[in-house]
Amino acid sequence: MIKVGIIGSGAMGTGIAQVAATAGHPVFLYDNNPDALSRARQSLEGVMQRLVEKGKLEAEAAEGILQRIGYVNNLYDFEEAGLAIEAIIEDLGVKKGVFEQLEDVVSEECTLASNTSSLSIASIAAACKKPERVLGIHFFNPAPLMKLVEVIPAIQTAPEVLNQSLGLIRSWGKTAVVAKDTPGFIVNRVARPFYGEALRILEEGLADTPTIDWAMTALGGFRMGPFTLMDYIGHDVNYTVTETVFQSFFYDPRYKPAFTQKRLVEAGYLGRKSGRGFYDYREGASNPEPKRDKKLGGQIVWRIVVMLINEAADALYWNIASRDDIDLAMTQGVNYPKGLLQWADEAGIAHCVDTMDRLYDEYREDRYRCSPLLRKMAKEGRGFYQG
Ligand SMILES: NC(=O)c1ccc[n+]([C@@H]2O[C@H](COP(=O)([O-])OP(=O)(O)OC[C@H]3O[C@@H](n4cnc5c(N)ncnc54)[C@H](O)[C@@H]3O)[C@@H](O)[C@H]2O)c1
Repeated sequence: MIKVGIIGSGAMGTGIAQVAATAGHPVFLYDNNPDALSRARQSLEGVMQRLVEKGKLEAEAAEGILQRIGYVNNLYDFEEAGLAIEAIIEDLGVKKGVFEQLEDVVSEECTLASNTSSLSIASIAAACKKPERVLGIHFFNPAPLMKLVEVIPAIQTAPEVLNQSLGLIRSWGKTAVVAKDTPGFIVNRVARPFYGEALRILEEGLADTPTIDWAMTALGGFRMGPFTLMDYIGHDVNYTVTETVFQSFFYDPRYKPAFTQKRLVEAGYLGRKSGRGFYDYREGASNPEPKRDKKLGGQIVWRIVVMLINEAADALYWNIASRDDIDLAMTQGVNYPKGLLQWADEAGIAHCVDTMDRLYDEYREDRYRCSPLLRKMAKEGRGFYQG
């Protein structure tokens, strides 16, 4: 079993350490903040204790997992690592510095991975003397529970580094999908309209937040409505992802952020964690009821879903990932009720194109441009899984 070194013992690093140690690897967890390291240790001990109490893990197995994790305060302990995964703050300069230092310590054979959500893997790899050993391994939060892992080769990455990493991640019981090194990879790109189109519907005054959330859950089958989910993620985090994706796509209007969300961030209404977001979570607060109008609800769901389908089709068109990986990513990374390309087939490709064209005619905005792939498929009478 190779040794796995993890840099950054925050939410993600701690979760990834648990995953790797559970799979039997000796793990080193490093952080430059000693408080973060002790928090990680406490958190992992607590998690193991709860798993044992709930009967999900034998006490002996839990003990073994904890013993396999070493908490270290310098990178020199990474000398014997076969894989190092970086999960520190999302800052390119700081990440590059860490990769440079790492390369001075690890062996020639060690694979270097970044868990970045939004930076380009090529730019991180460029900091290394052996960029062919660098790739993105993007876990979702919480890492022990979310099955999906996006694996992202940079243009510099050697094919065998990609293949070995895919094999390793799959041996950890994860669903690994391969994504091109482009902003948002698969999930954070394809999911943008789930938030963006819901915000747009709200801003246009077509429906209020409880009604949109009700439609998306009760009629659309999503686990959480967009506003409840944004409140849960935190508007600071969700807005930053949206803004970063927008900038990284050279300001493609399809990804334009919404003022409504920006104002929430500015006001400090960050969602659940601050007690207020779109909804009020303070004690004794009451929130408005949805208007349970099935016709309006159906229109809301279809407008958001067709935008998601269009985004998924475009990701396939631009070879961001394969058809199966795009559908897997959305069902396992963000628990969508159905793969979006599967959904497109069921709804009918021609119907998707008609809706996109109707939206485009109404708004005359590039945001609503139909993916060339959908249009071509409609003309040829093909589906993603049929024909
Ligand atoms: N939180 C998520 O939902 C999520 C999901 C997927 C990917 N990510 C990505 O994972 C990475 C980590 O995110 P997080 O949410 O765990 O952050 P976090 O703030 O919880 O933890 C980051 C940790 O890195 C440490 N750190 C900062 N600079 C360091 C350095 N130079 N050397 C060593 N340690 C350093 C900090 O002390 C902190 O403990 C980011 O790149 C983020 O984009 C986050």
